Amino acid sequence: MRKVLFVCLGNICRSPMAEMILKELVHQQGLDGEYFISSCGISNEEEGNDIYPPAKRKLWEEEIPIEFHQARKITQKDIDTYQDILVMEERHRKALLQRYDVKDPSKIRLLGMSDIEDPWYSGDFDTVYEEILEGCKKYLKEKSYKQESL
Ligand code: 4NP
Repeated sequence: MRKVLFVCLGNICRSPMAEMILKELVHQQGLDGEYFISSCGISNEEEGNDIYPPAKRKLWEEEIPIEFHQARKITQKDIDTYQDILVMEERHRKALLQRYDVKDPSKIRLLGMSDIEDPWYSGDFDTVYEEILEGCKKYLKEKSYKQESL
């Protein structure tokens, strides 16, 4: 089972959206059981909070099932346990490399082609959704190529 962790700042907007979207893509492709997917933040500011309501509304609109969520901050154990750590912004990657002992830095990568900007300030959940969806599709495609070539 491949363990995938999405990381953003607060763990109430981008990373839980990515978690729910990838879970749905995996489900649609009949790959349940092959992936363990979760999300967390680099800060503890939103610890215990549910997904931000506008982010939830966007997921509802797109018919993405939403699971129970409580925001949490990443731990050293997460860094050690997850095989793919997909961050929303380059500064998240840098923060993780500075603050934690990362034995294999190549497992921490940007989800998108470039930073997926914080919708907390922009309010643009449509763009964020599209960028996350594209990143998740690309991630799954890469994984399936790798499995085929084994
Ligand atoms: P997220 O969004 O990192 O996508 O979960 C944010 C959530 C909360 C804050 C900033 C960004 N905040 O400043 O509390």
